[in-house]
Parts: sequence; C-alpha cells; structure tokens
Amino acid sequence: MGKVYSLLGLQWGDEGKGKVVDHISKDISAAVRYQGGHNAGHTLIVNNEAIVFHLLPSAICHENIKCFLGRGVVVSLDALFEEIGDASRIIDNIETKLVVSPACSLIQPYHIKLDQLRERSHSSTTIGTTGRGIGTTYEDRVGRRGIRAIDLFNETNLHDKLKEALDYYNFLFSNSFKEEPIDFHQIYEKNLMQAEQLKPLIGNVSNEIKNLIDEGKSVLFEGAQGALLDVSLGTYPFVTSSNVIGGISSGVGISPTAIDYSLGIAKAYTTRVGEGPFPTELNDEIGKFLAEKGGEVGATTGRKRRCGWLDAILLKHAVYLSGVDGICLTKIDVLDGLDTINVCTGYESKLPVEDILESMNLEHLEPIYTHFKGWDEPTYGLNKFEDLNKIAQDYIFAIEDMCGVPIVMISTGPKREDTIIRNLF
Ligand code: GDP
Ligand code: IMO
Ligand code: MG
Repeated sequence: MGKVYSLLGLQWGDEGKGKVVDHISKDISAAVRYQGGHNAGHTLIVNNEAIVFHLLPSAICHENIKCFLGRGVVVSLDALFEEIGDASRIIDNIETKLVVSPACSLIQPYHIKLDQLRERSHSSTTIGTTGRGIGTTYEDRVGRRGIRAIDLFNETNLHDKLKEALDYYNFLFSNSFKEEPIDFHQIYEKNLMQAEQLKPLIGNVSNEIKNLIDEGKSVLFEGAQGALLDVSLGTYPFVTSSNVIGGISSGVGISPTAIDYSLGIAKAYTTRVGEGPFPTELNDEIGKFLAEKGGEVGATTGRKRRCGWLDAILLKHAVYLSGVDGICLTKIDVLDGLDTINVCTGYESKLPVEDILESMNLEHLEPIYTHFKGWDEPTYGLNKFEDLNKIAQDYIFAIEDMCGVPIVMISTGPKREDTIIRNLF
C-alpha cells in the first residue's frame, strides 16, 4: 500500500531538500509542488552533474513519476518553459510527466518589475527577495485580481483582466517610480502564444492525486523554501509570501489529514539568503569556513548565503509547527574539522522564549550556546550510522533530544549515495 509523504525545510531554505527528494523518490508515483514558485533552487547531482530545479518537482529525474504543480504555486511561464527545455537534456518526456493546475496564478512581467523596483526603492523595506515577482503575484491572488492559468484560454477574459491589471500597475510605475509603462499588446500577445504551449500540460491536479492515493500509489508533496520563511509563521516581514507550513491542503486541493508521514529537512548549521534577523549568524572565520566548505551560494540568485550555528530553539519550534515525524539532518560533513561546534539552546532576552516565537521578531537576541566537541574522523560520504565517529553520533543524539523527534536520515555529502538511513518511514 502506498503512502502520502510530505517533505519540507525547517530553517530558512536551502537545507538540501532537492538532494533528499531525489534520494527518497525512487519508489514514489507522484511528486507535487504546492507553494512558492521559481524563487526555489533545489540542487541534485545526477550522473556527477549538478542540476538545479526551480519550479519542477525535484523528483522529476526519476522514471515513471508523474509531477504536478498545484494551485498554490505561482507560475512564470517563461521560467517553466525554460526549465523544461534545460531539463530535457537529461530527462525524457517531461511534457507527458507534468500536470499544471488551471488554478495556478501566473507571474506576469509587471509583478517582476514591481518586485525589483520595490527592492531598489529607499522608501520600502528591503527584503532581499529573489526579484522574481513571487510576492507581488501572491498579492494579486489574495487581492482577487490575479490572472490564473485558466484565464489564458478565454481571449476576452484575458484581455479584460490584463487591461485592468495594467491600468493599475502602469499608474504605479509612472507615478510612484517614474518608470516607463508596460505595453499591453506585447504581454497580451505573449500570454496567448504561451497558452498554446501550456494547454497540453493543464490537468485536474486535485482529482488526479486523489485517484492515485485511492489506487494505493505513493505521493510526495515537495515543500519549497523553509518553515522560517513562512508568510504567517516565519520571521515576518523577512519571509516569502506563501505558506510553507500547512500549505498542502489549500495549495493542492486535498484533505489536511491525507499526509501519512512528514519529513523535515534541517542543516547541521544554519544559513539564510536575503535580509532579516539571524541570531546565530557568524561574521567571523567560522562563518567563512562554513560558507566555503558548504558551498553556500544561492542556487537561484547566486548570492552568498549568510552562515551561522544551528539554532535548536528555532528548529524545535519549526518541528512543532510543522508536525514532522522525523528529521533528515544534512551537511554534517561540513562540520568535519571544527574544534568546537555550538548549538543555540536559549537566548539572552527580557522576553520569554515563547513570546519571542509568537511574534518571530528575532532582532537583538543574544544566543546562549551549548558547546560540543568537534570530531577528527571525517563523516564525508559515509552511508552507515555505525561508521560515524562516536562524537558525531553523540551530536546527532543530542539534537534529537533537543527537538523531540528522531533524526531518521543523515546527509553526508551532495551526492545521492552520501546518505545514512536510520529508520526512515
Ligand atoms: P534546497 O533548496 O533545500 O534543495 O537546497 P539547495 O540545493 O539550495 O542547497 C543545498 C546545497 O548543499 C546544494 O549545493 C547541495 O548539492 C548541497 N548538499 C546537499 N546535501 C549535502 C550534504 O549533506 N553535504 C554537502 N557537503 N552538501 C550537500
Ligand atoms: P529553496 O526552496 C532560500 C528568500 C529570499 C528572500 C525571501 C523573500 O531553495 O529553499 P521571495 O523572492 O520569495 O519573495 O524572497 O525569501 N527565499 C529563499 N531563501 N531558499 C529558498 O528556496 C528561497 N526562496 C525565497 O532570499 O529572503
Ligand atoms: Mg535552495
């Protein structure tokens, strides 16, 4: 009998989700994205070559897998077709494997332009977005004026909706930003052209997934970003604009009780791209060591990732909120060679930790660290728990105790086989 799995990041993204999905999805029948868009960057190593997925589910590398983009995903058709084109070099028949919901909101050029203008403007808070129009598209979605994939198949409807949108956006561009307006006809024609290309991919995502589950097939819901970037539960306003936690039901159209097993992914340290508070950030030689050894450069924007120690307070909170059944701890090999490894287990603050976590205002917190001894024997590339040195094992047991859920999987390198499975599923 198949099972329904969810996988999500427990920190600020880039925990290694792509690699883990790739590792666990060989027996999965369907993989589904339910939130975010091409702001994600999920790296896999396939045949010794790195491949990055932004919008396509990372499981698409496997044969006989059906892939879905649920209604909660914001889709840039330019990005989608470009990614399909790139991935076709190594994956056959992507078009027959992929189904896109007609209810997906579409990222239009004006969304990208406004996202980038706001980021450059001195009068709004710089979030450090990926500049891909993600937040602005979600704004239109909740504002009930977004253009959805289905709108492309009715010319009059599309004409009227785009016209209304451009009246609004061009007013903003001209008056607030002193920028050139966007030409209506150019984007209208482009949308119509892309409609033809999109048509064969459109399908009933919710129903197809329901049928697969009823047939006893295994389905995997692939989270993008990370719990701390959740628009409601994360470090607002320095978040992305979707529900990373709990977004599956509304982002696909399935029952919230359909998930049998949730796997949370956490790095053995912490990274963050973009602005926003990061209590355990290291602006020193150790921070540089982690960045270099971990190759911490953004897979989407190429920005340097900020690095710091593992924050067990935030990890435990993310575990609680997301209700994960187990954790995959990634990049433990990056800690090889450190004399001391610190883990944040409290904060110096006037407020109780519970109140800090309610607002997620993490400014001006002084972390209190528990110090662990580093290990001499490398963990890189190991795939048996018994082969890990005793100190690394104890470090893993200690994190498990702090979080209250088992660490069921440990990633010791970027390749598929650099993985220790303890008691997954
Ligand atoms: P995602 O967004 O969560 O899929 O993560 P990214 O792909 O953006 O970033 C993770 C990076 O770490 C990628 O370059 C992976 O190839 C790499 N990676 C994943 N797991 C491991 C690991 O266990 N050890 C090392 N050294 N690198 C890893
Ligand atoms: P994956 O799936 C890391 C961050 C951006 C920025 C904030 C808002 O690879 O883990 P947005 O463009 O979404 O409006 O930007 O969210 N961000 C990510 N950081 N990994 C990601 O995805 C991210 N997706 C968005 O850097 O701080
Ligand atoms: Mg990433």
